[in-house]
Formats: sequence, C-alpha cells, structure tokens
Amino acid sequence: MLGLLGLTVLTVSGQTKSGTDRPWMDTKLSPERRADLVLEQLTLDEKISLLHGEGMARQKNLPPEIEAVQDQTNGGAGFVLGVPRLGIPRIQMSDAAYGVRQSAENGRYSTALPSNLGSAASWDQDAACAYGKLIGDELRMQGYNTTLGGGTNITRDPRNGRTFEYMGEDPVLAGTMVGARIRCEGGEHVISDIKHYVFNDQESGRQEVDVQIGERAGRESDLLAFEIGVKTGHPNAVMCSYNGVNGDYACESTWLLHDVLKGEWKFPGFVMSDWDATHSTVKASHAGLDQEQPLDLFYGEKLKQAVQSGEVSQAELNDHVRRVLWAEFASGIIDHPVVRGVVDPVHGFEVSQKVEEGSAVLLRNEHAALPLDAQKVRSIAVIGFNADTGMISGGGSAQVDAPGQIGGTPWRKHIWFPTSPLDAIRAKAPDAKVSYSAGSDVADAAAKAKAADVAIVFAWQWESEAGDLPTLSLPENQDRLIEAVAKANPHTVVVLETGTAVTMPWLDSTSAVLEAWYGGSKGADAVARLLFGDVNPSGKLPMTFPKSEDELPRTTVAQPPPPVKNGVLSFKVDYNVEGAAVGYKWYESQKKPVLFPFGFGLSYTTFSYSNLKVGKDGESVTLTVKNTGARAGAEVAEVYATLPASAGEPWKRLVAYKKIELAPGESKTVTMDVDPTYESIWDVAAKRWTRPSGEYKVTAGSSSAELPLEATFTVR
Ligand code: BGC
Repeated sequence: MLGLLGLTVLTVSGQTKSGTDRPWMDTKLSPERRADLVLEQLTLDEKISLLHGEGMARQKNLPPEIEAVQDQTNGGAGFVLGVPRLGIPRIQMSDAAYGVRQSAENGRYSTALPSNLGSAASWDQDAACAYGKLIGDELRMQGYNTTLGGGTNITRDPRNGRTFEYMGEDPVLAGTMVGARIRCEGGEHVISDIKHYVFNDQESGRQEVDVQIGERAGRESDLLAFEIGVKTGHPNAVMCSYNGVNGDYACESTWLLHDVLKGEWKFPGFVMSDWDATHSTVKASHAGLDQEQPLDLFYGEKLKQAVQSGEVSQAELNDHVRRVLWAEFASGIIDHPVVRGVVDPVHGFEVSQKVEEGSAVLLRNEHAALPLDAQKVRSIAVIGFNADTGMISGGGSAQVDAPGQIGGTPWRKHIWFPTSPLDAIRAKAPDAKVSYSAGSDVADAAAKAKAADVAIVFAWQWESEAGDLPTLSLPENQDRLIEAVAKANPHTVVVLETGTAVTMPWLDSTSAVLEAWYGGSKGADAVARLLFGDVNPSGKLPMTFPKSEDELPRTTVAQPPPPVKNGVLSFKVDYNVEGAAVGYKWYESQKKPVLFPFGFGLSYTTFSYSNLKVGKDGESVTLTVKNTGARAGAEVAEVYATLPASAGEPWKRLVAYKKIELAPGESKTVTMDVDPTYESIWDVAAKRWTRPSGEYKVTAGSSSAELPLEATFTVR
C-alpha cells in the first residue's frame, strides 16, 4: 500500500513539475534526449538498480536487499525499482503470452486469447493488432506497465513444448504477425517485448543446450523472424534466451546482442535476460545484456564493483541505463502512468472469439459435411474429455488463470477454460437431440455416435513450457477413441484443441477436421459458429503437419546427458542439419510428403486465382482472387519465391500474403509489397542481404502446395 501511494504521489508530482527541475518531463523532447537528461542525474546505485530485477512475487529465499523491497511489487514475474526522486516509476512486469498471467491470485481476471500459434493461423495483421491491444490494456488495468510476451521462436521442431506460444515455422509470417501484435500492444503504453532471442527452439535442456548453427542459416531462419519483429513491431525490450549458441550463452553472445541486434538492426531498447539466464557480469555486460532478471546475482553488487574497478566502463554502464530509460519514455509509461481499473470481460470475449473465428483451420471437409444445418440435423453426439465443460489451454509462464481458479494455477497443470462445447452446440441446434460422452468408455462413445446423425469429437493435446512432447500423437488413447467413433458413424467431425501439429491415423475415416488450436475464453462459441456456418473458416496452417516424427530433421528431441548441471552447457544440437530449411522448406527439399502443408486451410466457399504480375525488380506482386462459391468468405493469398539455382536453396519461401474478404462472386485485385530481404540470402563475407543475380520464380495461390499462378523476374 505504501508503495502504491508512493507511486501515485510521485507520478503526479512528476507530471506537474515538468518545468526546469525536471526537464526530462518535457514531452516535446525525444525519448533519447529525455533518457540522457535523467541519466545525468543518477547516482551509481540508482543506475545499478535499473539493471536488475527485484525477485518474482512470492519467490522464496530472496537475498536480504531484495526481500527488503518486496512491498513494492505488483505481483507477476517481478519488478525493477524506480527512481522516486526523479519521477521514474517502477517497471512492473507480467507474463502475457496469450493474456495476462496469474490474475487469480490477485483476485483479478484476464481474457485468454487463442494461443499465439492460433493467432498466427489467422494470417491477419489486424487480428494480431487487436490481440496485442487487448493484452496491453488488460496489463495496465491490473497495474502492470511491462509485458513479457511476443514469442517469436520459429517451429524448428513441432514437439517443442512452447510451440503454442510462438507464431509458426516461417520467419516472414512469424516476424510480421508478431510485429503487428507488439506494435499494438506497445501502443497501449506498456513496455513491449519480443522473446526468446534466440534459437530457443526446444525446451528439453533449454539451459544446457548449445545450439550449433551457421551464420547464413541462422540469419535466414530464426534471426530473420526476430529481425522483422524488431523492425516492424518496435519492441522496447528484447528477452535473451536460456540456451547457448555456438558456444556462448545467448545472453552473453556479442554476436547476437552487440553486433546483430544493437549494431545492425539498431535496436534502441534494452535486453533483459530470461529468468535466471544471466551467467556473468563482465562478459554479459560487454556482450550487450542490459538487465538481469529476476534477481541481482550478477548485475547488483558485482556489477557495481566491476564499474568501480573499471572492468565495465562508465560508458558501457550508461549505455545499459540509457536503454532502460529510453524504453520507459518511448513506451509512454512515464507520460501515461498506469491507473488500475477493472478488466472488461465482455470486450475481452468479443476480441478473443473474433480472433478464434479467423484462426481455426478447416483441414478436411468431405462431401461438404460442414457446415452443419441447424434446421436439418436431428441428433448430435458430442464426445471428448471435458467437452461438456471446457477447452484446454497452454501451460507454463504463458498460462492465463481460468475464472474460478482459486489461488492461481499450479505449474504445469492442465487448465480447461470454462467455455463448453456441449452447451455451445446445444445453443446452436436447439431442436436437435444432443448426447454427450466423455470418451473414457470407448464403447459408450461409439454407441452414442452410432445413434446420432453426426458425431463431433473434441480432441486435445496439452503443451507447456519446461518440457517437449515425446510424440505428435494425441495423448490418452484419443486416436483409438476417434477410430471407434468414426467407425460407428462415418459422419464424424473432429475438432482439434492442440498446441502444435498432431498425427492423424484416423483421418481417412472422418468426414471433417477443424483445427481450433487453444481457443481461449470463448473458444466453444467460436467453434460452434464455425461448425454451423455462421462464420466461414479462413485460417491457414502456420506450420506443416508432418505425417510422422520420422519426417522431422531429428527423429527425437535431444535430451541433456545426466547428471544435469543446471545452466551448464552440456550438449549440442546441430541445427545445421536443416539450416535455413525449416518446416515446409525442409519437407520440400527432402521430397517428403506431408499430412497437411504449410499455409493450407479450406473454406465453405471456393476461390480462384488469376493475373499474377510481378512489379519492378520483384518488389511487389499483383494478383486477382475471386470467390467462385455461394458464400462470403475470406481467403489468404500466399506468394512464394524460389531463388536462382546459384543461391543453393532449392526450396520456395513465403514472401508476401494477404487476407482478402470476398462476397459470393466477387473478385479483388490486390497488390502486395515484397521486401527484397525476403528474396535474399545472407552474404556472410559481405555481412549483408543480397539477391543473387538470375531468374526468380514467383508462385501464388491458396497454400504452399497449391500455387496455380507462376511468373518470373530477373535480378541482374
Ligand atoms: C520463461 C519466460 C518468462 C519468464 C518469467 C521463463 O521461465 O522462459 O518466457 O517470461 O520465465 O516468467
């Protein structure tokens, strides 16, 4: 309480005293200038205090100096002290991957949006913007001024337990979508971030794995996603990751932090370590780590001593501090201090449901089995564990507490949001007889399916931070359940609630499959509206669904060798196996057939493509899409480029995309800009992007495997 009062008073005085004694409060000055003006005033201790966290809420065994300030926390992932005498507020951080985490323990409430992967499946930057804006707003309502979200690690291995927190396997899709989310989240005046920088593509041994990757492959894959995210989203902070990269921890890699992020990309904000991912003082500082989280083990007293002894120069120290202050001014948390309020759940429901409706992917629809006709269907069997009460969500630090989750969510627990598929389906078809089976008794489920016109199975797969999936199979006998249900009733619809790809041994015996991802607070209503045709599906896969784990670059996820010494790099994983050929690029170059290709998704209407024209120097493309069916729908037009053979990359790559709404019979001609970087290779010797000379093939259509239009352009 004391802390809160202190903040209010100081903020008010900070605003009123914008005259001569607090010149940095002049909003006409640039954030750079304002940061410098504050910097001039700071003592060494104040500077140091801005460069480390003060512990996570309810963290045990804190050092005494950290314990002493715990009354100032807002909860969440932690905080950084402010400088009250100068009107600089505390940085109060919460995880917020698909909504604000840990609300329940404060007696508050947050909206769960669909998973990040789900939102990437919308291929809709407006949806990504709405997503970010909602989270930014709900953070502030709960007293936070900093978000920890913006997950951008590309899906190099679909078994990665955090795949649901990221934006899929393609760097252009992931980078542009996360960029839109970050931009709009930051627009709400929170310190925005992007994470986990970088190559943190598996959870197994995440603090012990030393990723091996060549520069060119790295630039054209994971780093490209971050480059686009940083340049389009303008995050105020970057969270460096746990893993090692080519022998250095990511949080002490001069190459990644100093040279690439801050040097080439000119990132003006600060780099914070992932929680306990700081491993040194001097090396990390030299490399470009600005802030340690969540404690002060290396950036507290040790940093102070390093500055006093000259091992870390004043200029280097000031650079760290300036970046933190810059982020505070640039984000607006100083000019627009947080005022707590009440989250508007109704608005949250609207946004969450809309995002889900645009993100679910219709993977199969034999003989137009969907949409269901509420007037005609007489009986429906709803089948699936918890399908009468809720839908599954993703775990770990991303976990949003579900309403009714008293006291918060235990770590790595399966959480089902109270959005009931059974109720939503009953509401859509009030005249139909709707039965329910949890599916634990397969014979009961099959009997109910047999007795109904249509069976709808809600299948789930749970994922979380701090562990990878052993396989891509649905857990807990669900494959057997679906097989039995589909055998009993050929009109079986499977709704998937998954965090990543799954294998589908039962696919051919079903009539329809809808990938709903983790559907968020209003998942069930969104799914019901899609199943009954109130909404036409328009999502497309942001990642390939492989036929089996055997098709992946590595058949198993490498594990750290025992005994595991926490945080000591003890094993290598070689990402050069696939290099830049992540996801669809891998399957294409290996000529491996897939279950569902990247970019794939059906609609209740049909579209045709025509008139592909490539603009000057390949920097734009124009094409026409027509809705050739009888329903309104939205189509994502996808444009790929294949580089000349001299590039040595014989796979196509996504270079542009656009979601287009079309009435029945309507056509639209759209022009999309193509950033030449997306058509480039990284020239290691020259240290720059370059387009090799020769002929480039441009293809366009509805998925990476359905590209009816083709054109070329030449780079001389
Ligand atoms: C996760 C981060 C998260 C942080 C704070 C770490 O374990 O990797 O994504 O932001 O914890 O909760």
